[in-house]
Amino acid sequence: MTDPSTVLIAGCGYVGTRLGLDLADAGHYAVGLRRSPSELPAGIRPLTADLTSPELPEALSAAGPFQQVVYATAADGGTPEAYHRAYVEGLENLIAALETGAHPVSRLLFVSSTGVYGDHGGGEVDESTPTAPESFRGAVMVEAESVALSAPWPSAALRLGGIYGPGRTRILDRVRAGEARFTSGPPIWSNRIHRDDAAGALAHLLALPAEELDPVWLGVDAEPVPLREIYRWLARRLDAPEPREDPSLRRDRSNKRCISRKLQESGYEFLYPSFREGYGEMIEAEEHAG
Ligand SMILES: NC(=O)c1ccc[n+]([C@@H]2O[C@H](COP(=O)([O-])OP(=O)(O)OC[C@H]3O[C@@H](n4cnc5c(N)ncnc54)[C@H](OP(=O)(O)O)[C@@H]3O)[C@@H](O)[C@H]2O)c1
Repeated sequence: MTDPSTVLIAGCGYVGTRLGLDLADAGHYAVGLRRSPSELPAGIRPLTADLTSPELPEALSAAGPFQQVVYATAADGGTPEAYHRAYVEGLENLIAALETGAHPVSRLLFVSSTGVYGDHGGGEVDESTPTAPESFRGAVMVEAESVALSAPWPSAALRLGGIYGPGRTRILDRVRAGEARFTSGPPIWSNRIHRDDAAGALAHLLALPAEELDPVWLGVDAEPVPLREIYRWLARRLDAPEPREDPSLRRDRSNKRCISRKLQESGYEFLYPSFREGYGEMIEAEEHAG
């Protein structure tokens, strides 16, 4: 994507906003679609629309035409219905609306999740591993990926791990409060990605030559790591209480190590190759803020 392109970010929230700003910095036009776009920063053109609304074609025609589309919305609630509406029905509606409006789309990216994989007992998974979701959340993502990959344009799904970064401090807060606990037995692996790398990987896939755009990509950092190791590292760094082993904790039902070798071999270089760089910078920013 070297020529300036108009990119629709459908569901422009935490990751989408970072992506929009990066694209704008690189000279593209980023349009951020959401129901309440008033707080989008300068640099991203706001587009007020509901992805599930029948009026979506009119809303799109006011802002396009679009050459690139990134679907990065999230569900309103934790029910199967809310998930299906957000990821499957919204995406189908968007594809139909883009077709109706004859937008010259050359690429569609769907932001998916590592929840599409089943339990691998802590073993490695990559893009070649069959999907076998353990929950309705993963099952909906599998269905939505198939909708995206059946779109009438070149398309791909990026399966993100747990997103963290500025403002997403759940693990930091837990450790700081002395509430970090981990299960006994073999480690539970954490597969994470910093917000800026989630956005960076999406921008990378938008720019990749068409012949290199495989349908499925894993979007996790370069170092899957046992959750207990993150807790211990953070506790040392924050001078917080030592995380506790708790045999009563339920074990994660989809224990796996996600490997993002393909993303790296395609030329993507992580800003935060591991949790240490990511959380380290967040802690430093907090320390400087006072
Ligand atoms: N969080 C994680 O750890 C994680 C892990 C793996 C994958 N993912 C995936 O990554 C993607 C991005 O995550 P995120 O953290 O950036 O999500 P987010 O901050 O919640 O952003 C989602 C955006 O979608 C918009 N939206 C929701 N429903 C909409 C609708 N019907 N019409 C128009 N816009 C709608 C919301 O804005 P309005 O409310 O203003 O409409 C919001 O800005 C999601 O697909 C998520 O499933 C997340």
